[in-house]
Amino acid sequence: MENNNSRKKEHIRHALHDKVEYGSAGFEKILLKHKSLPEIDFDEIDLNVNFLGKQLKFPIIIEAITGGFDEGGKINEILSEIASEFGIGFMVGSQRPMIENPALSETYKISGHPPVIISNIGAVQLNYGITYENIANIVRYIKADAIAFHLNPLQECFQPAGNRNFKNLKKKINEISSKLRIAGIKVIVKEVGTGLNYDDVKDLDADCLDVAGFGGTNWAIIEGKRADKQAQNFYNWGIPTVESIRNIISLKDKRNLEIIASGGIRNGIDAAKCFALGADVVGMALPFLKEIYKDDKGEISENINKERAKQNLQKFLNKFIEELKPALFLTGSKNIKEINEKYSMND
Ligand code: FNR
Repeated sequence: MENNNSRKKEHIRHALHDKVEYGSAGFEKILLKHKSLPEIDFDEIDLNVNFLGKQLKFPIIIEAITGGFDEGGKINEILSEIASEFGIGFMVGSQRPMIENPALSETYKISGHPPVIISNIGAVQLNYGITYENIANIVRYIKADAIAFHLNPLQECFQPAGNRNFKNLKKKINEISSKLRIAGIKVIVKEVGTGLNYDDVKDLDADCLDVAGFGGTNWAIIEGKRADKQAQNFYNWGIPTVESIRNIISLKDKRNLEIIASGGIRNGIDAAKCFALGADVVGMALPFLKEIYKDDKGEISENINKERAKQNLQKFLNKFIEELKPALFLTGSKNIKEINEKYSMND
């Protein structure tokens, strides 16, 4: 079996050093409705949101990246401290390595007190021996509010020795969800970069869906490069983030469901467009990872300098927020809810 530890390291290396984004998430198709008379006070714009029953200071989630090896532990420490400082959500990377080797648990430790903490595991692992007890343990270990089950069929296709038996997963996710809910743990179902579609998720018993659409981190590129396989013809595969949000958003009218928009969100205006489409919060992975490794010249370095990483992340998040606010102001929206539907399509 492929070693988990080296796989996780290689993902980070490729994400940092190769061009692993491809195509468009579709934000150029959304035009936010400009108002020359916004009729609100910029200084009263409120970015607080309620998410999974908790209060976030800003509507942002640090998406799952890593864990399971020393450097991954450093990354999780830095990201959780930043999430705590900014009052935003934090999702650890897949916790499968710590199920297989409990000595790796330390590398998922949360530092500080992020308002929302989210566990992570591949849903397909429910077909490869992972039990309810395993899941309850990884959630308990990081005191998570929720667990995200990731759906990554494309990644498993190109990953050496990928787990490709996706039979009966909907039923298994739903069974485990009802048990988790009784234990007070919320359930998120997410993609990893190829987007969710309505028919797949309409009957899923989840509290929250995270679209992780096409147009950001691209797993055909990352796994294709690792395996030296011909994955080029799949670089273009997936549902762009904007299309994925539009595709599933009507589910919110049918039941109590929260939506994380993610996949290729790179600035505050992209985020504002997701809120106009009806998303509750936005998530990002690759931008946060890159900030951790940037040196003083903005180049990717090999080593992590914790202080510099935190300064970079603070700068990135402040800029993001300072873009989101004018986008709300210019559409006459005092908060995230008010920008809903203030867009037109530019197809
Ligand atoms: C990821 N992502 C991810 N997702 C997940 O559910 N579990 C995981 O372990 C990982 N691992 C991981 C590693 C690296 C290096 C990256 C860049 C990403 C996917 C991630 O959480 C997110 O859904 C997608 O990357 C889309 O967001 P961005 O990167 O386009 O902002």
